[in-house]
Amino acid sequence: MNDFEARAAELLDEATYGYFAGGAGDEITLRDNVESWRRLVLAPRVLVGVKERDSSVTLLGRRRPHPFLVAPMAYQLGAHPDGEIGTATAAAATGATYVLSSQTTTDPREVARAMGEADRWMQLYVFQDRAVTDDLVQAAKDGGYEALVITVDFPTGGRRERDERSHHVLAHPTYAQLTKGPATPAERHAMHDPSLTWDDVAAIGEAGGLPVVLKGILNPADAERAVDAGVAGIIVSNHGGRQLDTVLSGADALGPVVEAVDGRIDVLVDGGIRRGWDAAKALALGADAVLVGRPVLWGLACEGAAGAQQVIQQLVDELDNALALLGCPRAEDLDASFLTRRG
Ligand SMILES: Cc1cc2nc3c(=O)[nH]c(=O)nc-3n(C[C@H](O)[C@H](O)[C@H](O)COP(=O)(O)O)c2cc1C
Repeated sequence: MNDFEARAAELLDEATYGYFAGGAGDEITLRDNVESWRRLVLAPRVLVGVKERDSSVTLLGRRRPHPFLVAPMAYQLGAHPDGEIGTATAAAATGATYVLSSQTTTDPREVARAMGEADRWMQLYVFQDRAVTDDLVQAAKDGGYEALVITVDFPTGGRRERDERSHHVLAHPTYAQLTKGPATPAERHAMHDPSLTWDDVAAIGEAGGLPVVLKGILNPADAERAVDAGVAGIIVSNHGGRQLDTVLSGADALGPVVEAVDGRIDVLVDGGIRRGWDAAKALALGADAVLVGRPVLWGLACEGAAGAQQVIQQLVDELDNALALLGCPRAEDLDASFLTRRG
């Protein structure tokens, strides 16, 4: 998998690679996202009989074959001509739920058609121009998207210094056509609505008529608030280290959030998940499912849909292997007893 990233770094121009790979500020959170899963130590059980294994989980009331979702990521035609259709069909082929970014470079209805009946959710940014957000909600309904993932950690953009240095501009127009021509990071970030509050989220959810999942929760107090707001789920996320640098990682935020939610709604987590056993750790900490971002993009960049599919399948296979070697044949039986502190 790391091989894909190294190859993508060679294939893509420097500014595009930097946009996909980079984080905010000194990229401390970006690095910690990966490191904090590695710091968690597994404590396996033996001789429990693991011939039959089951990675499936229940999410938004539906059974899914395994806990992996493809995270919403903007501008995928910038990685490969297969773009969003490539990652979406890869998700469909591997049983992963696909989350389409509202900064998609492909029409959401077209993505839906390519996926057949496979599971898909639509991520929403709430833009200052609400008509754009409303149009995305309509596209979600037309395309049979099952849920709206409202991203709440983006009142404005993080300080992404790689993009500032490279003067990264988008070569591909987005479906939402927010920009008339190539847009700088500052221009793109200015489209988001910094006045957004809990009331707006509730109103958008109600108007949309689809289950709402809030993406970008780190603080247990906000998790409580989300339960009160009546959403179906939350995603513990720091936006892949791209927003405020030095915030805590998903792995570190997850436990207290799970405790606050206490099983009332679904809790998902993302950031730095690179191996199937990272997902096992997330489930052991109480997550219902996990999202994977950059690794899927690197697979896409190198080999289009086939590369993205290979990455997701590897994660699924690694989780199955981890269940066997952990002595926990059912993913849903993972709990804190499989984790321990380093000596
Ligand atoms: C290139 C890129 C673009 C992204 N675009 C979006 C987006 O449009 N909407 C969103 O909610 N999150 C976006 N994210 C954040 C991801 O959904 C996810 O939270 C993060 O990438 C997970 O971390 P990982 O890449 O370490 O797996 C983006 C991340 C990357 C790397």
